[in-house]
Amino acid sequence: IAVEKQGFRHFMAKEIYEQPAVVRTCLEAYLDLDWTPGSNKSPFKLDLPESIYKDLENIQIVACGTSLHAGMIGKYLLEELAQIPTAIQYASEFRYSPPPLTPNTLTIGITQSGETADTLAAVEIEQSRRKDKEPKYYSRLLAVTNRTDSAITRVVDCVIDTHAGMEIGVAATKTFMGQLMAFYFLSLDLAHRRGTITVDRMAEIITGLKVLPSQIEVILETQEKYIEELSHSFLETRDAIFLGRGINFPIALEGALKLKEISYIHAEGYPSGEMKHGPIALLDAKVPVIAITMPGKVYEKAVSNAQEAKARDSHLYGVVAASDKDAAEIFDKVLPVPDVDELLSPVLTVIPMQLMSYHIAAMRGLDVDQPRNLAKSVTVE
Ligand code: G6P
Repeated sequence: IAVEKQGFRHFMAKEIYEQPAVVRTCLEAYLDLDWTPGSNKSPFKLDLPESIYKDLENIQIVACGTSLHAGMIGKYLLEELAQIPTAIQYASEFRYSPPPLTPNTLTIGITQSGETADTLAAVEIEQSRRKDKEPKYYSRLLAVTNRTDSAITRVVDCVIDTHAGMEIGVAATKTFMGQLMAFYFLSLDLAHRRGTITVDRMAEIITGLKVLPSQIEVILETQEKYIEELSHSFLETRDAIFLGRGINFPIALEGALKLKEISYIHAEGYPSGEMKHGPIALLDAKVPVIAITMPGKVYEKAVSNAQEAKARDSHLYGVVAASDKDAAEIFDKVLPVPDVDELLSPVLTVIPMQLMSYHIAAMRGLDVDQPRNLAKSVTVE
């Protein structure tokens, strides 16, 4: 099927703008929108076989690139909401050094294309090495993918479709959004079944999920022009540091990956508290720092980490909540996102990251949709 740019300069821009629709589609697919907190039915419609859930003790996730970052957020959600110990590994590492077998373990391969060689191999290894073991070690395999007709779906027991529609830009944006949705619904579903979440908290998160599409739209409508202007200050930039803590640490990694992929600016994503153990030595007026400091458990700590960067003359950008009154004093430039539950915040904080890398690459006149040396899906090892 021919996919058009529909008036956008690049597919990546179009795909960034399609993210509210991706969230809406996933909400419709995986949530009973008529559910009320008083109901004794489950609000979730993932349609996974019971064998996935029975006596489940451990989860392991394998993925590459942006999909790995979605998996890191998934790990956080699965542990926080469903209280299931969850390991995550680069698929390319897992395939040659798989960890010791753990019992009653669900293995999740995340791959938007469903064709990435390393992710496929990791899932296949898990299947074959568990084959002749006693039942508690049998494999349970789930794929989170945007292509329900892809290679990985022929290996696994079940699939969660990320419903993002065809993604053309090599740098993943809307498929990442669909992957996040898959993990919100999977971890809430597991939490509900295991009784690790109160009905009130579940209702609160569901309410929060439903407003995400309009909150993403607010960021796109109010921030894009500003971010486009900001991109000019990156004309000479050679290095940048992204900081985040807790559930927003993977968004710092994703912000850095996006900038590398399409702008060819060297960027590192770091957990805010680790900056003092290395990256701080790189900082000076030429190295901008982009810090995610959303209200929640780690807000004060993340802010003080960011201030350490400012003390080294770095230009400091803050991705903050709209209601954060102190942000203008702390940061040189503020990128506000609507107020949101900390657990849902990555869905919003990733949007300014995508817009920044997009506009910096476009301003530099680079081939945004087809960056050098990269491929949309890497089917070789
Ligand atoms: C390539 C793409 C990345 C993508 C990664 C994993 O490197 O350039 O954007 O995140 O592959 O792809 P997958 O299809 O497995 O999610």
